[in-house]
Amino acid sequence: MDANETADRVLVFDTTLRDGEQAPGASMNFGQKLQVARALASLGVDVMEVGFPVASPGDFQAVETIARQVEGPVICALARAHRPDIDAALKALAPAPRHRVHVFLATSPIHREHKLRMTPAEVVRVATGAIEYARERCQDVEFSAEDAARTELDFLTEVVERAIEAGATTINIPDTVGYAMPAQFGGIIRHLREHVRGIDGVVLSVHCHDDLGMAVANSLSALEAGARQVECTINGIGERAGNCSLEEVVMALRTRHDLFGLRTGVRTQQLCSVSRVVAGATGFHVARNKAVVGQNAFAHESGIHQHGMISHAQTYEVMRPEDVGFKSTNLVLGKHSGRHALTARLRDLGYQLEPEQVDKVFEELKRLADKKKEIYDGDLDALLVHLFQNGTSRRWQLASLNAVSGTGTPPSAAVSLLTRDGRKLDEAATGDGPVDAVFKCIERITGVKARLRDYTVENVTAGEDAQGEVVVVVEHEGRTYRGRGLSTDIVLASAEAYLEVVNRIAAGRLQRKTPPEPEPEVVCGAV
Ligand code: KIV
Ligand code: ZN
Repeated sequence: MDANETADRVLVFDTTLRDGEQAPGASMNFGQKLQVARALASLGVDVMEVGFPVASPGDFQAVETIARQVEGPVICALARAHRPDIDAALKALAPAPRHRVHVFLATSPIHREHKLRMTPAEVVRVATGAIEYARERCQDVEFSAEDAARTELDFLTEVVERAIEAGATTINIPDTVGYAMPAQFGGIIRHLREHVRGIDGVVLSVHCHDDLGMAVANSLSALEAGARQVECTINGIGERAGNCSLEEVVMALRTRHDLFGLRTGVRTQQLCSVSRVVAGATGFHVARNKAVVGQNAFAHESGIHQHGMISHAQTYEVMRPEDVGFKSTNLVLGKHSGRHALTARLRDLGYQLEPEQVDKVFEELKRLADKKKEIYDGDLDALLVHLFQNGTSRRWQLASLNAVSGTGTPPSAAVSLLTRDGRKLDEAATGDGPVDAVFKCIERITGVKARLRDYTVENVTAGEDAQGEVVVVVEHEGRTYRGRGLSTDIVLASAEAYLEVVNRIAAGRLQRKTPPEPEPEVVCGAV
C-alpha cells in the first residue's frame, strides 16, 4: 500500500490549470501555466489536472510540457468519452512517469435529454466503452459522472458500478452546477458507499462548484461521508462562481482535525505564495477578506479584537498565520484601534514613551484615522515628530526641478533642495524616465535610499488642467512609508511625494535617536 493511502489520508486533486483556467478571463499563457504547475508541485498536491488536450493545440502543448518537466504529482488530463479525446490526452501525458486520464460523461436527466440526446442505457454504454478503451492504455483512469448531484440516485448508483466494472480506478462525483446542499451531498456519497459493488476498491472523489457558495461545505460533507479525493482550485477559481477552494478545504481539514480526523499532504506554509502566483498569472485578484489567503485574513483593527490578540492570539484567530505563509498577524492601526495596539506597535517600532505621551499619540492617531483609513508606520513616525519635536520643520524642501524626456535623449532631471539651515543642494541624474531621474537626484542629495514598493498617479479633477495625485509607498529598514504629492505636473507631484517620505524617514530616525545618514557637504551635478 502506498504511504499516502491510509484511511485518514485525503488526496488533493488540483484542477486550477483545467477547470480554473476555464473561468472566463482566467486563461494563462504557456509560461504562466508552467509557473503555476511548478508551484502546485512544490505545494504537494497529489494529482494535478493540467488541461484538456483535444481542445486546442495550445492546451495539448501545455499538458505535454508540464508532463515532461514537472515532477512530483500525478499529471492528469481531461477527455470526453470519445476515443480521439482519450488518444490526445494519453499522447500529451505520455512523458509523465505517473499520469491519469480523466474521462467524463453527463448523467443527469437534463444533460441526457438536452445536451447528449441519449437514453440512460446509451449513457452507460458510451461511458463504459470509453473507460475500457482508456484502461487498456493507462493504469490510472478517472471517471466523472458530470452533473452527478442532479442525477437520479438509482441511475447514478448503476453508472458508478458499471464504471468500476469497466476499469475506472477513481470515481468522481461532481456537483457541476453548485446545486447541492451539504447534508444532501454527503448523503449521495454515503449512499454510493453503501450500495455500489466494488466501491471500496476505487478512490471516491468529489468535485464541487460554488454557484450557491457551498463548494467547500459540500466537499467537507462528502469527505465526512467517506470520499477520499477532493477536487479543488487555488483561490477557488473556475467555471462561473468557481470551484472548491483548495486553501479553504485543506485548512478546514487541518484546523478541525479534531472533527474530521483527516489529513492531506499539502505544505500549507506555501498556500499564500501559490495563491499569489495564481492571482498574478490569471489577473484574478484575491479579495481582501478571502478566507485563508486574503490580505485581511489575519488583520485586526477593532480595539477589542486587538486587545484580545495581544493577550492571546487564539482569542480571535483559529489558525496561525505562519501555517499558511503569512509572516504574522497584522494589527492594523485605524480608527477602531485601541490603546493596547498602539502601545504594542510603538514598542515594536522602538519608541519608549511615558503613558501620558502615549495618550497624546492616541488622541492624534484618532484624529488622523478620521481622515485616513490605515495608519502606516511612517505616519506614526511623522506623528511623533510633530508632537514631540515642536517647531521641527521638514529637513529638505524642493527649491527647483527641471526634467527632460523625449526621443533620442535619455530622460534626465536636475533637482535643488533647500535644507533647514538655508543651504541649497543640487544634483542631476539620468534615469529610466523623468520620475526615476528625479528620485535618483533626491536620493543622492539626502543620502536616504528607500525601496519603491508602489507608485500610483490618479486624476483628482477633470479636464486638461487636471490635478494629478501621486502616491508613493516605499520600504526603508523594514518600515513602510507613504507620501503624497499633488500638482498639475505629475513629475513635480512625484518629487513632492518622494520628498515627503524621505523627510519622514529622516524624522523617524531623529525621533528614535538613530544617527541620521550624513548630509553631503558639497554636491556637484553630473548627468
Ligand atoms: O464540473 C464538472 O462536472 C467538471 C467535470 C469535467 C469533472 O468539471
Ligand atoms: Zn468542474
